[in-house]
Amino acid sequence: MAGLTTFVIFGASGDLSRRKLIPALFHLYRKGRLPENFALLGVARHPIAEEAYRDSMREAVAEFSKPPEPAAWAGFRERLHYMAADPTQTEGLRSVEARLRELEAEAGDPTQRLYYFAIPPEIYQPILECLAQAGMTREDRGWRRVVIEKPFGRDLASARALNQAVHHVLREDQVYRIDHYLGKETVQNVLVFRFANSIFEPLWNRNYIDHVQITVAESVGVAHRGAFYDSVGVLRDVFQNHLLQLLVLVGMEPPSSFDPEMVRNERAKVLSAVRGMSEAEVGENTVRGQYQGFGGEPGVKPGSQTATYGALRLFIDNWRWQAVPFYLRSGKHMAEKTTEILIQFKSVPHQLFPLTPGREIRPNALFLCIQPDEGMHLRFEMKVPDTEVDLRSVDMDFHYADDFGPGALPDAYERLLLDALEGDASLYTRADAIELAWQIVDPIVRSWETGSPRLEMYAPGSWGPPAAETLLRREGREWALGCGGET
Ligand code: BG6
Repeated sequence: MAGLTTFVIFGASGDLSRRKLIPALFHLYRKGRLPENFALLGVARHPIAEEAYRDSMREAVAEFSKPPEPAAWAGFRERLHYMAADPTQTEGLRSVEARLRELEAEAGDPTQRLYYFAIPPEIYQPILECLAQAGMTREDRGWRRVVIEKPFGRDLASARALNQAVHHVLREDQVYRIDHYLGKETVQNVLVFRFANSIFEPLWNRNYIDHVQITVAESVGVAHRGAFYDSVGVLRDVFQNHLLQLLVLVGMEPPSSFDPEMVRNERAKVLSAVRGMSEAEVGENTVRGQYQGFGGEPGVKPGSQTATYGALRLFIDNWRWQAVPFYLRSGKHMAEKTTEILIQFKSVPHQLFPLTPGREIRPNALFLCIQPDEGMHLRFEMKVPDTEVDLRSVDMDFHYADDFGPGALPDAYERLLLDALEGDASLYTRADAIELAWQIVDPIVRSWETGSPRLEMYAPGSWGPPAAETLLRREGREWALGCGGET
């Protein structure tokens, strides 16, 4: 026997396990991607019989993905185990260690374990300590890795403290800080698009690009996560991680190889070049909004000042990007769900064509469509046939579904979980990058918490507060969406 690889989920009966982790692991299993000798041990506080846990995970796969094929599920089910334990107590973890040893006994060494923290962030530190005290981080019989979910800290100070607690018991290469955006195919494709094609990269800089927009819009409100959301707000929830990671992929320099550390070095460099803001600058360069009715959502404190919408104007201070604004926006309860990146090129230097008054040549625009209609749109100008020189914008587009078929895009977690099992950390965030991201967001959070800029209300189903339009309009620009086919 060649040893056993065990995926241990702390928080095994929670939402994340049901919606994402178990379906992703099941799909990896049915595609034959998991190690041959693989087991999954779910750990949570309340006692449930193992069989009942297996049944409820089958229902979760059916609900959040699709009903599993009976034969594949039968094989997966046998590998699925459950036990009740309190992971914040050393005794609790000793009982987990004992169970793991039972599972591992038959297969022999090496024993390889991935511990997944699908638990509230307040208990990350106690679990880390207890894991070490129970001897579960020692690697004498095989590797031990930990995947830590977001939010990784609430601000720079707490992220630093958490990094210290992590490094007290683990080496950095044992730690996988997850941001599920990096697992999305369309997000990974930004680098391939940039660095596996020769025609765009020469234009990818301040000489040809006027500005960049990144939109992460959600049509839903905070739903059942009101209490959690009220305590974090949009900056901590999605800007510190997802939006900044998208900015990084657009802004980074080509690494000299695809080696995980090379890629992560370049990612960290962009973050370190993002210009910090003073409090006065936060008032000028950000917009803070809340959807009407947020205060009445279950779990939200009445009169809450928490932002559910944010727009930022950022700059990257380096040779490539000097003076090119990056406008980032995200909100709940927006007009539609879409995540897209717009690369807006500069206007032509000279208007050659005698256009009718009021008409202008629109600058080229490239839309990278992250979701839901994954693909790409490139807008350019064409002559309208049978006119002297009337011009019109047209759209050249690519959709994953057309070229690779429907269902070709796996869930982000599949790729990320597999990478962690294989020891590839390229798509995970290193300690320094997490801290750099907080360093960018921290002054904005502080300023917002003192009321600057003022909180603007917006109607659910709109594109956010009018101030967000002004942020761009005062510079002669406007927010644009191109992924639904509109240009
Ligand atoms: C999560 C946030 O990290 O990302 C949620 O906590 C948000 O508030 C979600 O809804 C968005 O992820 P996706 O993959 O649906 O764009």
